[in-house]
Amino acid sequence: MMRHKGRMTRDGIRIHEPGDFAGMHAAGKIAAQILDEVADLVQVGETTGTLDEFIERRVEELGSTSATIGYKGYQHASCISVNHVVCHGIPGDKKLKDGDILNIDVTVVVDGWYGDTSRMYVAGKLSRKSERLIQVTHDALMRGIEAVRPGNTFGDIGFAIQSFVEGQRMSVVRDFCGHGLGQVFHAPPNVLHYGRAGTGPVLEEGMFFTIEPMVNLGRPETKVLADDWTAVTRDKSLSAQFEHSVGVTRDGAEIFTLSPAGLFHPTYEM
Ligand code: MF3
Ligand code: CO
Ligand code: CO
Repeated sequence: MMRHKGRMTRDGIRIHEPGDFAGMHAAGKIAAQILDEVADLVQVGETTGTLDEFIERRVEELGSTSATIGYKGYQHASCISVNHVVCHGIPGDKKLKDGDILNIDVTVVVDGWYGDTSRMYVAGKLSRKSERLIQVTHDALMRGIEAVRPGNTFGDIGFAIQSFVEGQRMSVVRDFCGHGLGQVFHAPPNVLHYGRAGTGPVLEEGMFFTIEPMVNLGRPETKVLADDWTAVTRDKSLSAQFEHSVGVTRDGAEIFTLSPAGLFHPTYEM
């Protein structure tokens, strides 16, 4: 089998073939299923390391491999980002406390195809302000996905997200973005979660990429801690993120990482 079929745009964005959607769907479904399964374990007193051990085991049991173990030296099957951690939180032995909100991000490889998705969870009781942050972040992702169709641009996606989030008086993180993926983890383009309508590369059927907005209650600036991974809000405000892997279809988007159990949002209503 040819490893990389299809052609490439001038911007270096791969145009996949119709048959490639099935591979992405299979990978995305396993990543989403694992995020469904871990939901029950998110409890006060549980450690993020325990959640990651469960995820690592399920990745193997489901016949997939982790894309993050060994990626640039990263050693875990998930990133778990609690409260003011924006992304790339490293699982460890810190216990979850009542009211903590956390993003769990899993990327698996199935038959060479990558499935990358993340969503928000809560330990114990959800505060009103956390609930609002999670709701706005989820809706921002879905508005971004609604802008996905051939002929629209990547700037249209960023604009849809940014204008919505800022209209809710929250801020969009600029320091991290979504990315092309397929038979590689991170590929062109950078999918910005802010921008101007009509700018950037034009979307074409067969493009595969993630949209993964990070939204802060305070200011958008972040910094990376001394562990070289953990990104936090500079002002210590709460941050949330949701991520789907999508493919551009003839007239819209296919979401590869839909939750098989319908738990993508709101997980706290289970
Ligand atoms: N899954 C993350 C993303 O959405 C990347 C994590 S890389 C890691 O792109 F090494 F930190 F795991
Ligand atoms: Co991603
Ligand atoms: Co991810």
